[in-house]
Amino acid sequence: MRQMTLVAFLQAQNCTNLPSSWRHPQSRTDSWSADYYRHIGRVLEAGKFHLGFFDDRLSMPDIYGHDHAHTVRHGIRCVKMDAVTVLTVMGMATERLGLGATYSTSYYEPFHVARLFATLDLMTDGRAAWNVVTSLNDGEAQNMGREQVIEHDLRYDRADEFMEVVFGHWDSWEDDAIVQDKASGLFAHAEKVHRLDHKGRFFRSRGPFTVPRSPQGRPVIIQAGQSGRGKRFGAQWGELIFVVYPNIAVGTRDYAGFKAEVAGCGRNPEEVKITHLVNTVAAATKMEAEDKWALIDKLPLEIDALSLLSEALKEVCDELERWFLERACDGFVVSATHVPGAYEDFVGFVVPELQRRGLFRTDYAGKTLRENLGLPVPSVAAWRGTRAKLQGWS
Ligand SMILES: Cc1cc2nc3c(=O)[nH]c(=O)nc-3n(C[C@H](O)[C@H](O)[C@H](O)COP(=O)(O)O)c2cc1C
Repeated sequence: MRQMTLVAFLQAQNCTNLPSSWRHPQSRTDSWSADYYRHIGRVLEAGKFHLGFFDDRLSMPDIYGHDHAHTVRHGIRCVKMDAVTVLTVMGMATERLGLGATYSTSYYEPFHVARLFATLDLMTDGRAAWNVVTSLNDGEAQNMGREQVIEHDLRYDRADEFMEVVFGHWDSWEDDAIVQDKASGLFAHAEKVHRLDHKGRFFRSRGPFTVPRSPQGRPVIIQAGQSGRGKRFGAQWGELIFVVYPNIAVGTRDYAGFKAEVAGCGRNPEEVKITHLVNTVAAATKMEAEDKWALIDKLPLEIDALSLLSEALKEVCDELERWFLERACDGFVVSATHVPGAYEDFVGFVVPELQRRGLFRTDYAGKTLRENLGLPVPSVAAWRGTRAKLQGWS
């Protein structure tokens, strides 16, 4: 039976997506400590979440007169730490939870990103995922040596080539390359470790890559492009897609459209999961949910573009069930009003009800993120076939 994919939408910062969440009476005040992320990881794993995912932005928001004073004074996402480092801490506190981090194709070299995520994948026994973003803020550009962001579609053209280099490097070591025969002194078959020698329009990278393949082959690719060009990129490369659909009717239409685009790239649409962004306020009874909502409602609210479900548990689960069964999505990216409380509530109330309805699993299917998402281990260089079809090279 088809079951939901659940992703927690996390931030390595001082608040959730709701900037005032740090003022919530139950928000922890040590969001820059390792223990905070260990705690969240354990909560999510107890709830059998597929993935804890960290967003990223390479700058402090300072849109009010290019001054950070307002941002810092009000704690509006002014702390932002490196997501992969935080994710590693979370990985060390968990055993099955998938671990996703955002990294930009606009400000790093593909070799570096390929090595970073391949290493993370090995260090977490095959649980890593990379959210590929092209970055849209000028503040990020100015922190990274540029004046402004690269033009929208050009960012994606660069990102396409970036992915070719990253995937190319990830394919360098054949699965049976390593021998480690201490007696003969043969460490690995040289003919099974390949050099990439990439020379393209935007990037050059020679290789050979220095990290062998992980138990899940390579990290899972996450993508959240919303524009036409972004969706095309996602259909080509993404395996877990984040969407924000305004309602179920648009959702079912766009879900089918996106899956068709994936098929058009020569890929199996069943091997691409689409998760819709939600924000829930969960409690055992409607009255308790209303009390919880009242606490949140006292905070300055900026929950942009999020559908906030604060009904009684039954209604919240009915709504999630409807989106899932009507194929407006394959699951949900769950955003939090405050941390860790919102995830503790989701795991304590929503997950058991979804499990009772048979909509969500009661245990992890395996060890790696791919096993748990139901995605096959990609064989070396399999992606090149779909690229060739798309670009008419064969
Ligand atoms: C759930 C979700 C998470 C996202 N996380 C990030 C992020 O961490 N960093 C980022 O720069 N953009 C992030 N984005 C933005 C998308 O990557 C994308 O740039 C944006 O939706 C605009 O689409 P476009 O790039 O196709 O124009 C996220 C979007 C969604 C829906």
